[in-house]
Amino acid sequence: MYRILAVDDDERFLEILVDLLKYKNYEIDTLSNPTIVIEHLANHEYDCILLDVKMPGMDGISLLDNIIAFNPGLPVIMISGQSTLSIAVNAIKKGAYDFLEKGADSDRLLITVQNAIDKKSWISERKLLISEIMDQYEMVGESAAMRNIFNQISMVAPTDAKVLILGETGTGKELAARAIHLNSKRATKPYIKVNCAAIPDTLIESTFFGHRKGSFSGAYNDQVGKFEMANEGTLFLDEIAELNMQAQAKLLRVLQDGEIEKIGETKSYKVDVRIIAATNKQLPQLIEKGQFREDLYHRLRVIEMLIPPLNKHVEDIPILCRHFLGKFSDRYNKPITQLTEQALNLLMLQRWPGNIRMLENVIEKAVIFSRNNVISAQEINSALTKDADSIMSDLSNLSLKDYIDQKEKEFIEIFLLKNEGKKQETADLLGIDRATLWKKIQKYHLDI
Ligand SMILES: Nc1ncnc2c1ncn2[C@@H]1O[C@H](COP(=O)(O)OP(=O)(O)OP(=O)(O)O)[C@@H](O)[C@H]1O
Ligand SMILES: [Mg+2]
Repeated sequence: MYRILAVDDDERFLEILVDLLKYKNYEIDTLSNPTIVIEHLANHEYDCILLDVKMPGMDGISLLDNIIAFNPGLPVIMISGQSTLSIAVNAIKKGAYDFLEKGADSDRLLITVQNAIDKKSWISERKLLISEIMDQYEMVGESAAMRNIFNQISMVAPTDAKVLILGETGTGKELAARAIHLNSKRATKPYIKVNCAAIPDTLIESTFFGHRKGSFSGAYNDQVGKFEMANEGTLFLDEIAELNMQAQAKLLRVLQDGEIEKIGETKSYKVDVRIIAATNKQLPQLIEKGQFREDLYHRLRVIEMLIPPLNKHVEDIPILCRHFLGKFSDRYNKPITQLTEQALNLLMLQRWPGNIRMLENVIEKAVIFSRNNVISAQEINSALTKDADSIMSDLSNLSLKDYIDQKEKEFIEIFLLKNEGKKQETADLLGIDRATLWKKIQKYHLDI
């Protein structure tokens, strides 16, 4: 049963409200003294408040301010007489849910009350959803480099400025885009992602702007474009460098006018969309080669955010590992809580061409294959070599010999580290003689 509080100095009107709302199965409390409302709210839960605009002692508008400050999720419906209509309208601008005239018929009153209550539960569901999404997209890091990124995110998020996110593959560009959206005033509005690399050239226009049924062969239904879906929210254009020149020209036009044209329609629509774009390519080089429009580049990079590669903030590896261990031990229902020191050392020494995504994959594999509560260096090592897919894609420009050399270097480095640089002991453990070890140390410029 929904609970309503009505506040009015007009006791006669309160009686009418009570009769009507009780009859419709609402629980209703009344207060005729506006000065005790906040205190009352501290001890009682309501789904909606009906509030008179004008009362002796305290007017409804300043009370509205106090109620909103006390509980921003509680919908307030202002009740006004003829003479206070303009004040009631003003109250809506200040955050009241709606207003009712004192003479309004009972149907109108009941509909307004029920809408306000529905909206309240919608907002709290939405908030819950956002906090779940926040967890899912949590960005961790304590290094100066990552703190700098978090700072930038919190500064640009509340603005509507376009953001161009740059950085190598797997560094967290998409996560940063999400974070900007979730920390903006558009957080409860849509977040729409378009992977520009994944749309065939012929479908780009209709994907972006939508089309009317029958406007070209193959257009069997109306299609809503991504810009329209993202209206009032955020549109994330991922892999922006992959757009062909024609699509770039169309995109530029929309960014200039803020209007879209659906294929098959002559009139254009205004859209209110915040644009975030990302790429791992060097756009200035593409501009030089004539593959990316310079004017579009400048439109997109109002704010430019460069996410650092993992090897520029290796000090975050322990906290990232903890984060991923938590995530995957939950997902795979394994009681794994930590890594051994050697395992962590091994991870710190990797080159991470696939950045945080690659680290995440390695931890995931280690969790899946681990038999103990603590993941050992051996298990990390085999997870690293099991990471064949990412090795294929990330190291495809490395020859087998380079790869073996690199692994050999890392292997020796770990053993040296473990033996505090003592060469004879390290050589013994590695099963090679001292002279061979020495040659390798020189070959790989190992620092001991
Ligand atoms: N700071 C971080 N904290 C926790 N997880 C992260 C962080 N950065 C990235 N990740 C995780 O790493 C993976 C890759 O991140 P993301 O997809 O954002 O990278 P990207 O830069 O968009 O990569 P690509 O260029 O390949 O598209 C995701 O699973 C993401 O959750
Ligand atoms: Mg990405």
